[in-house]
Amino acid sequence: MKRTQVVIIGAGPAGLLLGQLLHREGIDAIILEQRSAEYVLGRIRAGVLEQGTVEVLERAGVATRLHAEGLIHRGVEIGFRGHRHRIALQALAGKTVTVYGQTEITRDLMEARDGSGAVTVHEAEDVQLQDWDGPRPRVAFRHWGQAREIACDFIVGCDGYHGISRRSVPPERRRVFEREYPFGWLGVLADVPPPWEELIYANSERGFALASMRSPTRVRCYLQCNLDERVEDWSDARFWDEFRRRIGEEIAERVVTAPSIEKSIAPLRSFVIEPLRFGRLFLAGDAAHIVPPTGAKGLNLAVSDVFYLHEALRDFYRERSERALDAYSAKCLSRVWKAERFSWWMTRQLHRFPGDAFDQRMQESELEYLFVSRAAQTSMAENYVGLPLDS
Ligand code: FAD
Ligand code: PHB
Repeated sequence: MKRTQVVIIGAGPAGLLLGQLLHREGIDAIILEQRSAEYVLGRIRAGVLEQGTVEVLERAGVATRLHAEGLIHRGVEIGFRGHRHRIALQALAGKTVTVYGQTEITRDLMEARDGSGAVTVHEAEDVQLQDWDGPRPRVAFRHWGQAREIACDFIVGCDGYHGISRRSVPPERRRVFEREYPFGWLGVLADVPPPWEELIYANSERGFALASMRSPTRVRCYLQCNLDERVEDWSDARFWDEFRRRIGEEIAERVVTAPSIEKSIAPLRSFVIEPLRFGRLFLAGDAAHIVPPTGAKGLNLAVSDVFYLHEALRDFYRERSERALDAYSAKCLSRVWKAERFSWWMTRQLHRFPGDAFDQRMQESELEYLFVSRAAQTSMAENYVGLPLDS
């Protein structure tokens, strides 16, 4: 049986970054991923990085292209009732965010891993976690038809919301908190210049719209949609027409359209599992928590989780100290719940919810308050740019 120090399940951003941080500390890890590298790179997701996330990527030695190509944003805008209101992130919270696609981070991490000679097993099927509660955990899987097994000191579940790591723990040992929202996001990626220099989150009577970007020549735009809608029902023409109606007149005139490179629908969900440690199994990233994308927090949380976990594993191997491993769950969860609250709040304020007229008025008055209150804007800005990693 093969042996390593840490087995990481999942080669998304959380798993790859943890692998890279551990490699730099001289800790061996094998990553098992059920999909091919091309499939992982084809998933278009996050775009907004907190400063703390950029710092971790620097420490991992994978920030060269990020610094060359990432776009620094000093503010974001909120569209409401025909006007745009700017939240001055840097002026109010002292920090900026960087727009750089998750796909690019994943690509940078994959290249670093290939260069380091560390092992990633793609297309690992039927991964099973064994004996994670005792001192000698094992992971069994099939690869190209062959049964394989790896013995290790620790297993880390970085296998996203649909992964098996979390589900390997008996229900009586975990607690789940969950909220599903009655809509999804339809996203389009297209090679046209963004209509505006900053991100615009628009609350319109027809539903939410977001104008984001990946580069000076590539946009990423989203529309709130019903959960029963299918991508096939949304031609590019229909998407851009609806986008123009929601984003506000001035920006609508500047929108340049092009055939989409990618189009997908994502449901919106809040989800947290507690705790994040079960014996020698740790959970990190989307395997442990989901936020609706409105707050741009999911990838940033995945990065802070694996940053804390790599420090804790380093202390274990260097000093045989389990203190940081014992503190991992509480430390992450304190940050996770703050991001859950902010993402829920952003989602609540910016989307059209079915039903209640009172709730609708509350939403409108919360936005009106935000636009006139420096305190409310500062609170939004501080949450959006993120907490320092040492807090
Ligand atoms: P994932 O990216 O889901 O990776 C998990 C990996 O595990 C996958 O490669 C999967 O194939 C693999 N896996 C699953 N099951 C198994 C198994 N049984 N065996 C082996 N491997 C397995 N976040 C932000 O911070 N900012 C944003 O602007 C933002 N925008 C978003 C927009 C959208 C539309 C969406 C959907 C998400 C957005 N997010 C954003 C969230 C962000 O994309 C996720 O939080 C991030 O992908 C989490 O990374 P992860 O590595 O934990 O999980
Ligand atoms: C994105 O560019 O994909 C993006 C930006 C901001 C969000 C969510 C997604 O809040």
